[in-house]
Amino acid sequence: MTSANKKIGVIFHSGMGHTSYQAKAVRDGAKRVAGVDTELIYVEDAREQLDELSSMDAMIFGCPTYMGSVSAPFKQFMDDTGAIWLAQGWRDKIAGGFTNSGNQSGDKLNTLVQLNVFAMQHGMIWAGLGLPGGNNASTGGVEELNRLGSWMGAMAQSNTDQGIEGIAESDLRTAACLGERIARITLGWQPPRNVE
Ligand SMILES: Cc1cc2nc3c(=O)[nH]c(=O)nc-3n(C[C@H](O)[C@H](O)[C@H](O)COP(=O)(O)O)c2cc1C
Repeated sequence: MTSANKKIGVIFHSGMGHTSYQAKAVRDGAKRVAGVDTELIYVEDAREQLDELSSMDAMIFGCPTYMGSVSAPFKQFMDDTGAIWLAQGWRDKIAGGFTNSGNQSGDKLNTLVQLNVFAMQHGMIWAGLGLPGGNNASTGGVEELNRLGSWMGAMAQSNTDQGIEGIAESDLRTAACLGERIARITLGWQPPRNVE
C-alpha cells in the first residue's frame, strides 16, 4: 500500500460464502479508482484489528440478512466497537453498506438500516448507492443495475441452493458501483476540523 493513498476497509461477514462474492465485487469496484487502497477484512478478523480500522478513511460494512437482521457475527463486531464509539474515534469517516439474502426482498432493508444506524452512532458520513432503481418497467430486466431497487446501500439476492452461479451478475455489478462511489467520495472528502 502507498501511504499517501486513502484507505478503505470492506468489513464483512459471510456464513456460507454468498456475501463474500458481493464483498469482493465492492472491493473490485473501489479498486477502479486511483489513489485508494482497499482491503477486504473478514469480520472475525476485524474484531481483532480495531486499531487498524481506526486508520481507515472509509469503511464499507456488509453481511447477509439473517432473520431480517444483520447476522450475529456482524452484530458481535458492532458491539465490540463500543470503546471506539464512546470516544467517537471513527467520526467523520466515510461509511456505506451492503447485504445479501435468499429472497428478493427478505427484509434486507432492515439490515441496511441497522448498518446505517451503526455508522451514524459512530458519527460517520453515510454514502448510499446513488443508482436509480432497475427492473421496474416492462422494458426492464434482471440484468439491470440495482434491479432490487435499493438506495441505502447495495443489495444482492442469492439462490439458497447454489453458490456464486445463484447470484445475479447484475447484483455483483451493483456492488462494484457502491465500492467505486465510496472510493470517489473518500478521495474528495475533507473531514471538518473538530469543533469541541
Ligand atoms: C439463520 C439464517 C437466517 C436467514 N434469514 C433470512 C432472511 O431473513 N431473509 C432472507 O431472504 N434470507 C434469509 N436467509 C438466507 C440467507 O440470507 C442467504 O442464504 C444468504 O445468501 C446467505 O449468505 P452467506 O452465504 O454469505 O451466509 C437466512 C439464512 C440463515 C442461515
